[in-house]
Amino acid sequence: MLHALAHIEFVAIDFAFDLVGRFGMHFPAEFVDDWMVVGAQEAMHFALLDRRLRTLGAGYGFLPAHDSLWEAAGKTARDVLARLAVVPMVLEARGLDVTPMAIERFDAVGDHRSAQILRRIYHDEIAHVATGTKWFVHCAESRGIEPIYTWRWLIENNFRGALKAPFNDSARGQAGLSREFYIGLAPVSVV
Ligand SMILES: [Fe+2]
Ligand SMILES: [Fe+2]
Repeated sequence: MLHALAHIEFVAIDFAFDLVGRFGMHFPAEFVDDWMVVGAQEAMHFALLDRRLRTLGAGYGFLPAHDSLWEAAGKTARDVLARLAVVPMVLEARGLDVTPMAIERFDAVGDHRSAQILRRIYHDEIAHVATGTKWFVHCAESRGIEPIYTWRWLIENNFRGALKAPFNDSARGQAGLSREFYIGLAPVSVV
């Protein structure tokens, strides 16, 4: 599980800096500043998990990892709206849904250090989803299109499969990702 999480953070570093390099020139400087901060935090998350793996006698690269996260970058490489819709607002938001349970699982088996790392990550990831939502809304409004329906259309057309409930409405809400965005897009929506 720690290796899988380290891999997610490793890909997240690339996600953040790819946004800067691929789309940064079309945005105000604040866009670049925001995603550089996100990228630095992803690198810190990766380092914390990799260090934890090493303490336990393993390390990143000891196990195979899948490429499905990075595939989302390829599929959305031509449109920053689709990229922001899928990466921070679906994939990273999914992290907010599942991380509290992962923290509980680590605590339940007595691995409090790993649980502590995940608490730190969870806190930062709320800000990442907020950054994604902020720039998605900015970009939609600057194109003169309505953000929520545009997001729903983009997800239905760029994201394989349905969103997965239950959603962490509280953390998503803190990030500005209100239920209006995703309600009805998953088979079951649990408050
Ligand atoms: Fe992260
Ligand atoms: Fe993140």
